[in-house]
Amino acid sequence: MHKKLISLAFLCVVTMGVMAQGNVHEQSAPDQYQWPTEQAVLQKLHQWQDFKFGVLLHWGIYSVPGIVESWSICVEDWIRRDTTQTYQQYRDWYFGLADEFNPTQFDPVQWASVMRDAGMKYMIFTTKHHDGFCMFDSHETDYTIAHHAFAADSRCDVLRYVLDAFRNQQFMLGTYFSKPDWHSQYYWWDVYPNRGRNVNYPIEKYPWRWEQFCQFTYRQIEEIMSGYGNVDILWLDGGWVCTENNQDIHMDRIVQMARSHQPGLIVVDRTIRGPYENYQTPEQTIPKEQLSYPWESCITLSDDWGWTPHPRWKSPQRIVNTLAEIVAKGGNMVLGVGPTPQGLIQPEAVERLQGIGRWLRTYGDAIYGTTITPHYHEGNIWFSAAKDGSRKYAIYALPEGGPLPATISWTINMPMKRVSMLGSGKKLKHRISDGRVTVTLPRGMQQQSFALVIE
Ligand code: GLC
Repeated sequence: MHKKLISLAFLCVVTMGVMAQGNVHEQSAPDQYQWPTEQAVLQKLHQWQDFKFGVLLHWGIYSVPGIVESWSICVEDWIRRDTTQTYQQYRDWYFGLADEFNPTQFDPVQWASVMRDAGMKYMIFTTKHHDGFCMFDSHETDYTIAHHAFAADSRCDVLRYVLDAFRNQQFMLGTYFSKPDWHSQYYWWDVYPNRGRNVNYPIEKYPWRWEQFCQFTYRQIEEIMSGYGNVDILWLDGGWVCTENNQDIHMDRIVQMARSHQPGLIVVDRTIRGPYENYQTPEQTIPKEQLSYPWESCITLSDDWGWTPHPRWKSPQRIVNTLAEIVAKGGNMVLGVGPTPQGLIQPEAVERLQGIGRWLRTYGDAIYGTTITPHYHEGNIWFSAAKDGSRKYAIYALPEGGPLPATISWTINMPMKRVSMLGSGKKLKHRISDGRVTVTLPRGMQQQSFALVIE
C-alpha cells in the first residue's frame, strides 16, 4: 500500500511536470531513456545524430493573425484572451481563421533553400497542431487546408510540397503531429465544457467515443506515413495524451503501423518515457550536463514558434553559441522558424539564417558528424571530437557584443602536435605551461565565435 502511494505520488509529479509550465514541455528524466532495439531505427538515429542542426517549422491558422499556436483556445489559468469577447465568440473566430488562411505566395522551395544555406540537415513540419487544423489533405476531417481558403490552389495539399522541396535538398524529413486535437468532437466534445488541454469528457463513461478518437488518430497518422513518400521522423507532441494520464491511444499499434510504411522510422513520443521516445526534446533550454543518449533542444529563432508580426530575433551569434554548447553536450538543435501567412520565410529571418550558414560553412567540421569528448567545457570554450579520434575541436563562443581576446587558454584536451584555425587551416602559435595551453589568435579576425583544431 505504502509503495503504491509513493509511486502514485511520483506519477503525479511526473505528469504535473508537463502540465505546470504553460505551454513549455519538460524533458523526460534523463535516466529514463530507452534505446530502440530495431537495427534500422538505431541506424537512422545515428545518422540523425550526425546532422546536429535542423529546422522546426510551425505553420497553421495561427500564422494568419500571428498569435501563439493553438493555445489561445485552451482554457487554462496562464492563458489570456481578449476580454471583450465570450469564450465561444473567441473560439469561433479562431477556428474560422481556416477561411482566411490563403497563402498565395506559398513557396516551400524557398524555405528549403534558405534552410539548406543556413546549414540545416533535417526538418520537422507541423502537419497538425493542437487546434486540429490539418496541413495535409486528410480524409478524416474537413478541417484541413485542402478544404478551406487555399482549396482552389493546386498545391493545397501543402504537406506534399513541403516534404518534396526538402527532400530535393537531401534533408532528413520529420512530421510533427499533435496527439490532442481540440477541433475533434472525439477529443473536445461539445456536450461538455472545456476544462483545459485534456480530453473534456469522462472516458470511462464513453469508452466508445475514446475508441473513435484512437481510430481517428491512427488513421490520420497512417495518411501521413503512407501518402507522402519517405518520412524519417514522427514527432508527436502533446505529452498529456498518454497511458499514465488515462488517455491511452495505443501507441504500440500506431508505431507498428507507422514503421510498416516507414522502416526505421524515428518516433519521438515526446516526454513519454519508454520505447517510443527515441530521442528526448528539452524545449527552449539546454540540459545542464553532457548526455550520452540522443536528444534535441528545440529552440526558437524569435520568441515564438509561429510567425508573429513584431518578433524579437535571436542573433546568429547567439544561435551558433547555443549550437556549440548543445553539440559539446551530445545533442542536436532544431531551430523554430515560422513561415509567414503568405507562405514565405521573411527577409529578417533569412538574414539571420544566412549568418548562421556562413559561420557553419567555415566552422561546420567542429559541429557535423562529431562526437562528444569527456572534458567538454571550460569557460566559454566548448569541445567536440572527430569520430576517428584524430583531433578535437575547441569552439570559442564569443559572448554577444564582446571583443575577441588576443589569446585564449584552457587546461583540458591539450594539443600533442599543433593547434590550427578551422576553415583556413592556419597553424597558430601555442605554448603549454603548468598544464595550461595558451593560443595566440591571428590579428584582424572577425569579431565572432570560431573553432580551432587540436591535434
Ligand atoms: C511546446 C508548445 C507547442 C509547440 C512545441 C514545439 O510544446 O506548447 O505549441 O508546438 O512546444 O516544441
